[in-house]
Amino acid sequence: MKQQLENIRSQALAALEQASTPAALEELRVKLLGKKGELTAVLKQMGKLSAEERPVMGQLANSVRAAIEETLEKRKTEISAAVLEAKLESEAIDVTIPGDVVPLGHQHPMNMVLQEVKDIFVGLGYQIVDGPEVELADYNFTRLNIEEGHPSRDRSDTFYFTDDDSVLLRTQTSPMQIRVMENAKPPICILAPGRVFRKDEADATHSPMFHQIEGLVVDEHITMGDLKGALITLMKRLYGEDLEVRFRPHHFPFTEPSCEMDMQCHKCHGTGEVGGQVCSTCHGEGWIELLGAGMVHPKVLEGCGIDPEKYSGFAFGLGLERMAMGRLKINDLRLIFDNDTRFLNQF
Ligand code: DAH
Repeated sequence: MKQQLENIRSQALAALEQASTPAALEELRVKLLGKKGELTAVLKQMGKLSAEERPVMGQLANSVRAAIEETLEKRKTEISAAVLEAKLESEAIDVTIPGDVVPLGHQHPMNMVLQEVKDIFVGLGYQIVDGPEVELADYNFTRLNIEEGHPSRDRSDTFYFTDDDSVLLRTQTSPMQIRVMENAKPPICILAPGRVFRKDEADATHSPMFHQIEGLVVDEHITMGDLKGALITLMKRLYGEDLEVRFRPHHFPFTEPSCEMDMQCHKCHGTGEVGGQVCSTCHGEGWIELLGAGMVHPKVLEGCGIDPEKYSGFAFGLGLERMAMGRLKINDLRLIFDNDTRFLNQF
């Protein structure tokens, strides 16, 4: 029996050293120590031994069991460490490999300029408002003091939806003046950017869809001086403090008096020529037209329930594309709408 036990010990320890997976270890544990295992089988023979031999064999059997258990534990630890090691090896992430570049877009250049303009006016206390592109002729023309038969109402200039010419695509953002004034009491201080539509053929300076930014300020004691202050502030912030501007008298049905604002041409610095040639940017004018503006006509105020004896206001409307072209030195309007990424990526 002693030999049997010694054999079990030496074979068991060798087998345990050989085992390389947790499953193999478990199989060995059952085979060696389980109820039907080899050691149990030997211990069952103990009854046949003499009284002197029994404790000796018992002790030996215990030491064999202890040796097996100890080795089993040791191998368990070793094997799980090896398994972890292999896993770490196979799942290793090389954080130094460069990642895939995801091409990021950016804001359209026209929207960049719109954002600049909005930021400037928000800083001056203006509220940004939005309104419909499908508009009533009543708001787009009539209530702006643009009477029936005015050339801008012509079917050749305006997209109408109905035979009676009562619904249209707005031709200007000025109807936002009416929409704001009929719903709010002064003081009013708003900026309304948006799309406008006219039956124009697309060329370097025209497009059937373009963007305007309308401004409106109504309160007691508003003067032309306030209008000039706001617009000069805008232009100097956009184009720099050195910018020269001028106001020219003009006519708009919904403002009285009305004016247009020009800035000195940045290409020829007001001389109208570059190297003996007529300046291509301002066509020899020396000035570039920026916007229309004026003091809100008393009839327009009255039509919105605002007392023109008590309140006065100024309004202005500027073309966003023209502003962006000047600001970003773009020479053809169509580039803004083509969405050619070779163009857009320059900004
Ligand atoms: N709506 C005018 C246009 O499209 C521009 C304009 C002129 C707007 C004078 C105004 C203004 O608010 O006061 O030509």
